[in-house]
Amino acid sequence: MNICCIGAGYVGGPTMAMIAHKCPKVKVTVVDINAERIAAWQTDELPIYEPGLLKVVKASRGENLFFSTEIDEGIRNADIIFVSVNTPTKTFGEGAGRASDLQYWELCARRIKDVSESDKIIVEKSTLPVRTAEAMERVLHSGENGIHFEVLSNPEFLAEGTAIADLENPDRILIGGHETKTGQKALGQLVDIYANWVPRERILTSNVWSSELSKLTANAFLAQRVSSINAISALCEATGANIKDVSHAIGTDSRIGSKFLQASVGFGGSCFKKDILNLVYLCETYGLHESAAYWQQVVEINEYQQSRFVKNILQSMFGTIAGKRIAILGFAFKADTGDTRESPAIKVCKELSEEHAKIVVSDPKALDNAKLDLANLENIDFEEDVYKAVNQADAIALLTDWNIYKNLDFEKIYSSMQKPAFIFDGRNVLDHEKLFDLGFEVYSIGKPGLSHLN
Ligand code: NAD
Ligand code: UGA
Repeated sequence: MNICCIGAGYVGGPTMAMIAHKCPKVKVTVVDINAERIAAWQTDELPIYEPGLLKVVKASRGENLFFSTEIDEGIRNADIIFVSVNTPTKTFGEGAGRASDLQYWELCARRIKDVSESDKIIVEKSTLPVRTAEAMERVLHSGENGIHFEVLSNPEFLAEGTAIADLENPDRILIGGHETKTGQKALGQLVDIYANWVPRERILTSNVWSSELSKLTANAFLAQRVSSINAISALCEATGANIKDVSHAIGTDSRIGSKFLQASVGFGGSCFKKDILNLVYLCETYGLHESAAYWQQVVEINEYQQSRFVKNILQSMFGTIAGKRIAILGFAFKADTGDTRESPAIKVCKELSEEHAKIVVSDPKALDNAKLDLANLENIDFEEDVYKAVNQADAIALLTDWNIYKNLDFEKIYSSMQKPAFIFDGRNVLDHEKLFDLGFEVYSIGKPGLSHLN
């Protein structure tokens, strides 16, 4: 069995490395138009940072796992083709700012059609709007070449930072196939691949449309939980309640559950916002304006939470941060990744810069991306060493929940900062009382600030 995956990104690379690792008899080739990325996959400096990934890649690379820019050859030799290319939000034309930009996906479908010489199973691994498979089937079967392409939906649920554990031990695998003889046969073949390591009862099957919609819905529900708790965090700050206590109290209700109730400066990542906007666009396309407005609000609360964080900084620091040095601890959208796509840190830095603050950004893995994201800002520095970043700073804004930030020497940090020394914990991961006792002015998410100045 030969598998080809088009797209060697955050999803294509790790998922294929896991399939190759768990299915030694399957030959897996990951192809991409980005030659630099493909070259990096062949070294020990992988193009993405993901804990545990290198070990899994090295276990199969050169044996049954290959990375290549020979896309046509990869397609031609494959029995199953996963398509895992990016599907960003459209920035132009009809649906701009909401709909999915499917140009990369469609290019792949056309390439597959043009170079294939035998029947193939095409697996949608990218996150796509409902009924994309239908459009792809039309592209694939246009013209007369007598080749049959069976399209399956197999959305990916891994989260960055925990991708290897998620892939090795997934809550579920979802595969959608057509309710036809060929559809069910193809679906069975893909089930058999996952069954090499995933218990059968965790491999769910459905029709293609349910599978496509389940992926968008899962991300919308997860993001909605973050926005819900963040909306309540604003009320906590106003009333004197503590969001941690509220999260704990509601999370112990087994119907609600405790996960994804961590209030923060907002959710980031390449997918939550994009997928919700896509869902909103889909609802509107079908005339379901109330459903669209409901989900749109999840994104709006997220923007509000990020701006609210900057407003809190401004207000606490006596209404002006012009010329003040603010150290940003953490730029990645979450811990354990170098990914900064849609990171709340981007908006926070831009808004601080509009107030003419002097910003210095520190992050253990995301500084290269941060430099690209903030290329247009003035008065900005980048410093890997946290202690150098905070030296002479007026304030610290902690924006990513990296473990290293929890164990910093805050006594040393306090003594190196301007006074009053402010700390804004955008992730609620620090010991606020202890920081207050050291002399800091402490502000966090979802509880009233601790100030020596009142
Ligand atoms: P990515 O940008 O990291 O990777 C996509 C890759 O596809 C890039 O390397 C790009 O060069 C390549 N590509 C684009 N067009 C191509 C073409 N025509 N031929 C060959 N290669 C091409 O994106 P990603 O984060 O891996 O996401 C891919 C898809 O998976 C998206 O639809 C996303 O919504 C979904 N997804 C992502 C995550 C995640 O954690 N990042 C999780 C689940 C699902
Ligand atoms: C998310 C989903 O969790 C995955 O299942 C999905 O496959 C993926 O999107 C995708 O489709 O791309 P990811 O974005 O990698 O994964 O990371 P999450 O752990 O979901 O975190 C997303 C954002 O929400 C981060 O900025 C995180 O810090 C924030 N978050 C998460 C909170 O602010 N509070 C929480 O309680 C949980």
